[in-house]
Amino acid sequence: MTDHYVVFGNPIAHSKSPLIHRLFAEQTGESLDYQTALAPLDNFPAFARQFFVTGRGANVTVPFKEEAYRLADQLTERGRRAGAVNTLARQADGSLLGDNTDGAGLVRDLTVNHGVELKDKRILLLGAGGAVRGALAPLLAEEPYVLVIANRTVEKAEQLAKEFAELGPVLPAGYDWLEEPFDVIINATSASLAGELPPIAPSLIQPGETFCYDMMYGKEPTAFCRWATEHQAGQAVDGLGMLVEQAAEAFYVWRGVRPNSAPVLAELRRLMAQS
Ligand code: ATR
Repeated sequence: MTDHYVVFGNPIAHSKSPLIHRLFAEQTGESLDYQTALAPLDNFPAFARQFFVTGRGANVTVPFKEEAYRLADQLTERGRRAGAVNTLARQADGSLLGDNTDGAGLVRDLTVNHGVELKDKRILLLGAGGAVRGALAPLLAEEPYVLVIANRTVEKAEQLAKEFAELGPVLPAGYDWLEEPFDVIINATSASLAGELPPIAPSLIQPGETFCYDMMYGKEPTAFCRWATEHQAGQAVDGLGMLVEQAAEAFYVWRGVRPNSAPVLAELRRLMAQS
């Protein structure tokens, strides 16, 4: 019997998740089917419940992650902290477990794929939206020296810093408060979708040292990666690896098998370069 999985989103046609999970399934010999599912904007819960009459698991993307959080019958600790769910898994008793693998995917891409040590490092997160909320607990678990959340709307950074203070040294900031270099800078603003950048000083980069990471990705280097390269960042990396790693983590939640992400990431890069 083939188990059915989907990714819910709207829009969803261009999602890379079906390809990623098909490659994981081939590699691990797991028998599963994974499709996109265009969920209606005004009736996500009923649509998702209908799928789970027979479906085993789902990923959830924009704009349904908060609705999926509310839909879940139980939450993992990281899903609860994130306030948003990107992975749903039907349990043996029919209930739905909600998890968030985005932050774990980010940390794995940074530490395993790129060999970035986060312990005792000065980390700067740009943005204070859902993407940052999902990343905070996994990043703080790496025990950085300090994690600064900088945002255009400073109150949102302050709110997040307060909420996660019990997990580690996290501070809020406005973009123009910052001058000293960081070891790691992670762009999690949606500004880059429009090719824009938050107004940050080049002095935040220590030439040849600072590791710059954009959660966004594309065929061409993102605006943030171009900015980082222009100012001699040690490295400038996009978020395609995070996409593959959050998927690998979701696959593990569903199947109990951890796929090898490296060949899948290489295949995605190859296909993207061709497109
Ligand atoms: P996501 O779920 O992707 O994090 P979000 O919750 O809508 O999306 O958050 C978007 C983030 O990008 C916010 O931090 C937002 O800043 P504000 O909180 O001040 O709105 C940030 N952002 C979006 N466009 C931006 C821009 N042009 N310059 C700077 N920050 C921007």
